[in-house]
Amino acid sequence: MNIYVPKAYYDKKSIDGYTLKTAPIFMPNSVGGYCPGKTENPSESKAILTALRHGFIVASPAIRGRTLKNRNKNNHGKAPACIVDYKAAVGFLHKFADILPGDDNKIITNGTSAGGALSCLIGVTGNHLDYKEHLREIGAAEEDDSIFASSCYCPITNLGNADAAYEWQFDGIYDYCKSRILTPKSDKNINSLLKRTMNEERIKISKEECALFTTYINSLNLKDEDGKPLTLDENENGTFKEYIKSVILSSAQEVLDKGVDLTGKKWLDVCGGKAVAMDFYGYAKDITRMKTASAFDDITMTSTENNLFGDKYNDYAHFTKYSTCHSTANGKTAQKKIIKMLNPMYYIEDEKAESAKYFRIRHGERDRDTSIAISAILSLKLKEIGCNVDYAAPWDIPHSGDYDLDEYDLDELFAWINKIVKEG
Ligand code: DHB
Repeated sequence: MNIYVPKAYYDKKSIDGYTLKTAPIFMPNSVGGYCPGKTENPSESKAILTALRHGFIVASPAIRGRTLKNRNKNNHGKAPACIVDYKAAVGFLHKFADILPGDDNKIITNGTSAGGALSCLIGVTGNHLDYKEHLREIGAAEEDDSIFASSCYCPITNLGNADAAYEWQFDGIYDYCKSRILTPKSDKNINSLLKRTMNEERIKISKEECALFTTYINSLNLKDEDGKPLTLDENENGTFKEYIKSVILSSAQEVLDKGVDLTGKKWLDVCGGKAVAMDFYGYAKDITRMKTASAFDDITMTSTENNLFGDKYNDYAHFTKYSTCHSTANGKTAQKKIIKMLNPMYYIEDEKAESAKYFRIRHGERDRDTSIAISAILSLKLKEIGCNVDYAAPWDIPHSGDYDLDEYDLDELFAWINKIVKEG
């Protein structure tokens, strides 16, 4: 783990009211694609540089990922290694709080995509016993591993339900393509840029998983902020869909208020400068489908996530009942307790898990790596247990992170962090 301290603190100066001992600790992870995340420095990471400018202490841990092998060529970074390592790093900050710079009661994690999933997961699983055996195994300090706040960009999370959510969002859209924009410069990746069409078998999977999503949503007892139940009917429509539309409409409204012209968006109804309605299918068609069904737990057992759930000796595993039953690879399912340890949804309502007080969750309006329903469900459930959640789907933002910091008038991430640190 790299630890960075603004030099001013060693010159006995303060920054924005913070000192060497009171400065919050910004703790980003650099995990992408559930691959190993290395420690980062301020010249590699805009988030780290910005944090230091704001007077934060920065702790940047290395985290094992799915592709790692040890000396014996055994897998060394399969689930739950990524979350165990992040927790071990937090435990270290708590353990040595007396001699390290920064306020360990104000740890704020940050990550994007798989890293966003980890940031959120560590935020909801503070001190849960499930992880203790794994922490002991790597020689981590037996310590508090809870955090104050979590910032998550486009979290690839709730993997057990992500397939169904994806098919619900892209229902009826059967062309898919890894990249949305074809750029001549990317010629060498031409295969990954080609548009493909799902075959009958995949369309059948899409339909079945879409129906599973309705069952899942209706099992959650979700409510909006006014306490109104959010559900879906047998045609996959209903108040939950209207809620998702409202998130997208708010996103559109924000840019309309800044004078952006959205007349090109035929799926969006704008009336008197207000985004009043939208066609969900038109929206999904516009952002385009990236993945075939099943999007995460692939029936051929070859996806990023299949690779995450392998074990010491097996590179890949399934992690859903549906794809295990439909496996064309005769694949096995990962252990239930490991699947659980990677999914924040199991811990949100578990009283034995200490949750962070604050969450900031962003899912770009044109993100197509996972369904917007995934981050919406997460945000709603966190709000339900009393967490303070700032959730939005910023307009025209693809699958990415750290886009709303650095330039001073746009520094929304650190504006949020400074606000919650002062409040909490
Ligand atoms: C990431 C993106 C994906 O589409 C995915 O399935 C897993 C991880 C990522 O960018 O981290």
